[in-house]
Amino acid sequence: MKILVTGCAGFIGSHLCERLLEENYEVVGIDNFDDFYSRDLKERNIKSFRNNTSFELHEFDLLNQDKLNELEAIDVVIHLAAKAGVRPSIVRPSVYIDSNIKSTQNVLDFLVKQNITKYVFASSSSIYGNKSKIPFTEEDECNYPISPYAYTKKACEMMNYTYHYLHQIDTVNLRFFTVFGPRQRPDLAIHKFVSKIKNNQPIEMYGNGKSARDYTFISDTIEGICLSLDYLLKNKNVFENFNIGNHYPITLEKLIQSIYSELKSTPNVVIKDMNKAEVDITYADISKARKLLGYQPRVEFEEGIRKFISWHEKYI
Ligand SMILES: NC(=O)c1ccc[n+]([C@@H]2O[C@H](COP(=O)([O-])OP(=O)(O)OC[C@H]3O[C@@H](n4cnc5c(N)ncnc54)[C@H](O)[C@@H]3O)[C@@H](O)[C@H]2O)c1
Repeated sequence: MKILVTGCAGFIGSHLCERLLEENYEVVGIDNFDDFYSRDLKERNIKSFRNNTSFELHEFDLLNQDKLNELEAIDVVIHLAAKAGVRPSIVRPSVYIDSNIKSTQNVLDFLVKQNITKYVFASSSSIYGNKSKIPFTEEDECNYPISPYAYTKKACEMMNYTYHYLHQIDTVNLRFFTVFGPRQRPDLAIHKFVSKIKNNQPIEMYGNGKSARDYTFISDTIEGICLSLDYLLKNKNVFENFNIGNHYPITLEKLIQSIYSELKSTPNVVIKDMNKAEVDITYADISKARKLLGYQPRVEFEEGIRKFISWHEKYI
């Protein structure tokens, strides 16, 4: 079975390719090595499997439909490539329209052209917006995204439905909740904080520290993707949204405290205004994923932080 992974050199994509290769799938990876963060980090992400004979790397932008159409004999597409990050999406929304919405349109047209009927899409907890009802369930209305990044993900989920309806593409939209662990993107809080503390720089806390995120360790996210792949392969006429979170929100002040304590360093925190596009809390109800996929997150927050720090010490 041949699986196409878009965004294969990124944080989640590189872990996923490793896991799929371990499970003896053939993997075709696409990545344009965009400048959202350094190419060196992405090259390092794929180092362990780049020369694996079951892996093929294609470097191009998904906006290039002709290049995409050259790929053949793909059984499943796992579409992770996107511009991530909430705050930069406010500054350059049109880039997010291209990288997220137009690229997904191209992937959907590719599925139809090649008669591929199994499709996993990386969505995001950010589509829930600022909700007073927690935890978030897949049935919750999410029509009020508060950042361009969030509306691109919501738009893609809707496009995916249209293609499922018109072309019988079995689809799962996986709503990831702040993923962390080795290779985490350098723009994300945990990575940024650890780097700054190790360079004896102050860290910035946005708001009063009470905002919270449902941090999910990378191996649990990857398990969620693999379980949804099994589900897609075993079932027909599928269109499902799943929360792939941890069901355990951690406040920003607790996150900061844990990192300082793990690094045995004295807190040096500068308080800044909370950004309007950042939600107050993310909190996943994972009962649907547990029931239909058998998903159960295993890595606790503190253990995940220790694993991240030991990776950071070795590689950054
Ligand atoms: N990391 C998280 O906490 C998180 C949370 C929710 C959703 N997600 C989603 O999961 C997916 C993967 O996120 P990540 O954290 O691994 O991000 P990442 O930036 O590390 O990986 C994305 C990869 O896609 C590539 N890419 C971007 N646009 C492309 C294009 N047009 N053509 C080809 N390649 C392109 C980039 O070069 C990058 O290597 C994204 O869709 C993201 O929105 C991530």
